[in-house]
Amino acid sequence: TTFNVAILVGSLRKGSFSRQIARALADLAPATLKAEIVEIADLPLYNPDLEEGTPPAAWTTFRDRIRPADAVLFVTPEYNRSVPAALKNALDVGSRPYGQSVWAGKPGAVVSCSPGGLSAFGANHHLRQSLVFLDVPTLQQPEAYLGHVDKMLDADGGIANADSEKFLSGFMLKFAGWIDRNHS
Ligand code: FNR
Repeated sequence: TTFNVAILVGSLRKGSFSRQIARALADLAPATLKAEIVEIADLPLYNPDLEEGTPPAAWTTFRDRIRPADAVLFVTPEYNRSVPAALKNALDVGSRPYGQSVWAGKPGAVVSCSPGGLSAFGANHHLRQSLVFLDVPTLQQPEAYLGHVDKMLDADGGIANADSEKFLSGFMLKFAGWIDRNHS
């Protein structure tokens, strides 16, 4: 079986390290996973009033992209010790209308990264808190805290050293097993 994995990147920046890591993870994933980035940049900020009548087209497109996915992978930096607003907004948009969440029951995993040394731990764990409520069974181990992520990437966006590459492919292999055991 092949599983479709929607990757959400928590940074909107063109040169984003998180996006480069997301692409590398998609490449390093075992053949049983088909992983693709789903864009979140143009989602209007969540406002329940906009659900009346025809909701924003970008919301509908996003929900329709996530709904058929077998699993979700979050690759995110940390903004002020928490989840970047763009990513939190995407979670909120996907969680509504009430009772029609696109997240519920989908296996997930979190990779946090920072050029700094604390590895975006705060974002990683605040994101996990929302995923508990959204009923996303989230891979526990291995955890993935990528510190000094700028040095982990080479000029072409590839993984610069063999140890990191081994860790990331091992992570995706574990995630594939997690999806296999937890998907509905
Ligand atoms: C940051 N940065 C940051 N880094 C960190 O480790 N902890 C933090 O709390 C913050 N806070 C923060 C807030 C805001 C508003 C910005 C713009 C940046 C630095 C951040 O890790 C760095 O810019 C990364 O390069 C962002 O990830 P991308 O865009 O490279 O994926």
